[in-house]
Amino acid sequence: MVRLRNITITQFKNYSFQRFDFNKNVIGICGLNGIGKTNLLDAIYYCCFTKSYFTSSDSMNIENGKDGFRIEALFDKENINQQLICVYKPQTKKEFSINDVLYEKLSKHIGQFTCVMIAPDDISIITGTSEERRKYLDSILCQIDADYLQQLILYNKLLQQRNSLLKTMAQKQSNDFAVLDIINHQMIAPCNHIFEKRTAFTKQLLPLIVHHYNQIANNHEIISAQYHSKLTEHSFQDLLKQNLEKDLMLQRSNIGIHKDDLIFSLNGEPFKNIASQGQRKSLLFAMKLAAFELLKSHKGFAPILLLDDVFEKLDEERMHNLLKWVCIENDGQVFITDTHKSRLESSFQALHIDGEIIEISK
Ligand SMILES: Nc1ncnc2c1ncn2[C@@H]1O[C@H](COP(=O)(O)OP(=O)(O)O)[C@@H](O)[C@H]1O
Ligand SMILES: [Mg+2]
Repeated sequence: MVRLRNITITQFKNYSFQRFDFNKNVIGICGLNGIGKTNLLDAIYYCCFTKSYFTSSDSMNIENGKDGFRIEALFDKENINQQLICVYKPQTKKEFSINDVLYEKLSKHIGQFTCVMIAPDDISIITGTSEERRKYLDSILCQIDADYLQQLILYNKLLQQRNSLLKTMAQKQSNDFAVLDIINHQMIAPCNHIFEKRTAFTKQLLPLIVHHYNQIANNHEIISAQYHSKLTEHSFQDLLKQNLEKDLMLQRSNIGIHKDDLIFSLNGEPFKNIASQGQRKSLLFAMKLAAFELLKSHKGFAPILLLDDVFEKLDEERMHNLLKWVCIENDGQVFITDTHKSRLESSFQALHIDGEIIEISK
């Protein structure tokens, strides 16, 4: 069991200095547009992932005109208090500590406090490029499997090196094939490791997404999901050989697990092309719920669920089904933002949820 008890946010986005206390498992957060509801969820997300859900640039998270930010959060994990402190200043290394013990590597923190965010723009997981779906898949796997995360970091580092080598080879028109061979060779192990983990994990994940989709959509569509990777058919070594010319010409790596994708289809057609708005939403929620469920079963405790403006996205009945599932049947902690306090209140009442509502104001 993981619970966030309080959070103090200093110079993070629109928050100069503010503390929030959470006493319940279901927390409604309301307030006018632009007041900082999403930013509060992002600060919570930050505590779990050591980064923002919305931007990879940490300086964007600093309150305008300030020189750094700090987030303190008290978690209760299996009845043990864990005081997290995160300090970021540009030019210095970002620091994360738990109970005053500093992490040497931020990646070691991933998976300590698991969380799943559902935000309005997430629909790009369905409609966007394969990168969005790899991020989705990786964010689950990285929280479950620390080895996976380390291998992914290593792979991405080597991939960058390989790409910049391909560029310099083209520019200088040199033939540094010996170095290329070394990098290729170093990439094999992490590439295979990630491919094997993804293969095994998607065998659990994809049927669960289909299951949730059928429950949410509640009709007779036939949806299917597949993990796509060139590595299913060929070894990485062979693929590198086959693509060498193309890589040299395009000056980047065209093959590897950084090209994998999750492919969904609806009645045999590509989901992306033919799905309606409603069907996209259903699939998005199915993907997030499947992530939630697998995180819970692998870690042994429910992740924190961050629901940003989902009332706008779902009709009342679906919203209630979702709340029932996460708040009542799953025992996870849930944060839900909404502009309408009354909508939160009436939902909590209708479902007999013993929640609290925090109103953010200026
Ligand atoms: N780095 C920043 N410094 C100061 N204010 C910021 C920063 N980033 C975002 N904001 C402000 O945060 C506000 C949006 O907060 P947000 O959490 O999205 O509101 P809500 O979700 O309640 O509609 C905007 O007014 C925006 O200007
Ligand atoms: Mg918002």
